[in-house]
Amino acid sequence: MDGPIFSVRGAEYAYKGASCPAIEDVNLSVASGEWVALLGTNGSGKSTLAKMMNALLVPTRGVCFVMGMDTSDAELAAFIRRNVALVFQNPDDQIVASIVEEDVAFGPENLGLPSDAIRAVVERALRLTGLSETRRRGSHSLSGGQKQRLALAGALAMEPKALILDESTSMLDPEGRASFLDCLRELNARGITVIQITHRMEEVVHASRIVVMEKGKIAWDGSPYIFWEEKRAAFGFDIPPELELLRSLRAGGFVPAGTRPAVNDLLEALCL
Ligand SMILES: Nc1ncnc2c1ncn2[C@@H]1O[C@H](COP(=O)(O)OP(=O)(O)OP(=O)(O)O)[C@@H](O)[C@H]1O
Ligand SMILES: [Mg+2]
Repeated sequence: MDGPIFSVRGAEYAYKGASCPAIEDVNLSVASGEWVALLGTNGSGKSTLAKMMNALLVPTRGVCFVMGMDTSDAELAAFIRRNVALVFQNPDDQIVASIVEEDVAFGPENLGLPSDAIRAVVERALRLTGLSETRRRGSHSLSGGQKQRLALAGALAMEPKALILDESTSMLDPEGRASFLDCLRELNARGITVIQITHRMEEVVHASRIVVMEKGKIAWDGSPYIFWEEKRAAFGFDIPPELELLRSLRAGGFVPAGTRPAVNDLLEALCL
């Protein structure tokens, strides 16, 4: 695809009755295949921006284009949402069918896909999220973490071009979080754009770009390397343990000075 997958220009969103806009003067262009970590304190506007990028909210000023389509065109909204999956924090809000595999199949069924194709995408989504074993179980009988994976599976079954994850790992245990991140890495490696909203710095190590929001505006946008080395402290974020380890290895001379090993490669080399 030519051009950015997301192009937000001069965007503002003011909730009805609010005294000031939730986000304003936001400019963000995201190329297809990027993995953007969207960081910021509570109330800084991350979820509002996420909803704008999924055409759930239309800017009250400025524009938001998704795959070149203007989100203010109501006729395009359904198409945009099919291609840009937004997975929220609370999985209970996203369960639509009583049985796991039916829940995952709900989206593709609504698209009117042939049953073979539905079976294939459901199969794949269940496998990627580690839910194959639970397919016949009641959706509401799953644990919180399994429900979060179910929400991701439902999103994946739509075969989206981009995934926006709004604190979608908050209920996962460390193992669940690791497998969720592995799944994201695999999807991103296959070219799916990832926009990841999280307060957990250890989840940010795979991002190719970091965007920090403050008081409804983008306060910083750049490479993870510069962020961790130069900006993190100013914004008050913790350093993830993996990067702490990288620092120690570098200080001990195990990583040549001046090199910037990708964290992914380093983790793999260390079998983490
Ligand atoms: N439905 C709403 N109606 C009115 N104001 C809202 C609504 N949703 C959010 N806001 C306000 O918009 C601002 C941005 O909220 P938003 O949820 O986008 O922040 P956030 O960065 O996602 O925060 P958090 O980290 O807590 O999830 C906040 O001041 C919030 O109070
Ligand atoms: Mg939020």
